[in-house]
Amino acid sequence: MASSPPSRSTPRRSLDREALLQPGARCFPPPMKLPPFFEEDRLAVDAALERLLPAQTAPPSSVHTAMRYSVFAGGKRIRPILCLETARIFTSNVTPALYPACALEFIHTYSLIHDDLPALDNDDLRRGKPTCHKKFGEALAILAGDALLTLAFETISATLVPSERCVSILGEVASAAGTINGMVGGQVADVEAEGKRVDPQTLEYIHRSKTAALIRASITAGALCAGAGPEDVARLRRFGETIGWAFQVTDDILDVEESSAALGKTAGKDMAQQKATYPSVFGLERSHEIAKDLATKAIAELIPYAERASRLREIAEFLVLRRA
Ligand code: IPE
Ligand code: IPE
Ligand code: MG
Ligand code: MG
Ligand code: MG
Repeated sequence: MASSPPSRSTPRRSLDREALLQPGARCFPPPMKLPPFFEEDRLAVDAALERLLPAQTAPPSSVHTAMRYSVFAGGKRIRPILCLETARIFTSNVTPALYPACALEFIHTYSLIHDDLPALDNDDLRRGKPTCHKKFGEALAILAGDALLTLAFETISATLVPSERCVSILGEVASAAGTINGMVGGQVADVEAEGKRVDPQTLEYIHRSKTAALIRASITAGALCAGAGPEDVARLRRFGETIGWAFQVTDDILDVEESSAALGKTAGKDMAQQKATYPSVFGLERSHEIAKDLATKAIAELIPYAERASRLREIAEFLVLRRA
């Protein structure tokens, strides 16, 4: 690996990607059929997102148009679905959990808009469409991200649960989005690691911070919203931390193994930008094993819930078997 950071226009190093994809390194699991509850949750989340976002026509309509464009560009809605299905372990009424669920999707979408900016990953394609800054310009993309982050906290504050629960959810989500072991901290380390040789500890820090933290918060927010006690919240925090880590290892693998058409974002980008990834540090085959081992460890945390956690178990499996 080169020791100086690559320029943003570094051409894609397809030879290296092909080397990672050599026969024997490929390990494509079969495509996974999603259980029906995914679609039911997705529809409920999309309807709630629609209600919570300011109307496109409300002034300043340019920023509302950009926010709506990115939120409805077609994400998998993993974080809100995790939030709802964690809440369902403790309650049959998951309607209040739609608020933190949507808040997490707002923060996630903001993180993607900013991640794609020229100053960060400089991406043109996201969720199968031109990135927010490509469509609306950098100023509006930055502001749409800022606005989604702010709207997330307004949304959590409107959750119809006792105020102590609401305050706990706010704390969980704010710290997961922040700089200390949170999303922004991980993004800083990710950008600063470009073009450098990283050790496994730094790689772990980047992945747990930039991605696992928000996934963990989606799960703990669902638990807190439904009134789970401290022991359950701690157990589910461990589940979320570990499955979120496995999720980013899988994201790195898919960047190597899949096409841009399948991913809806530019494939092969990590190698081109000399990003710190699991395939670059451990190779593809070992990365698959790491993702699988992390998922197994995460799912073991769900044993005490038996059948009540069957949906969470299915989501966890999907997160490492997915192909997009
Ligand atoms: C992509 O997340 C960014 C990462 C944190 C790896 P997703 O794969 O959940 O993206 P969408 O929401 O489905 O577009
Ligand atoms: C992004 O990681 C994590 C975020 C906090 C947005 P990546 O840079 O690998 O995500 P993609 O591959 O662009 O979706
Ligand atoms: Mg990035
Ligand atoms: Mg990126
Ligand atoms: Mg990626």
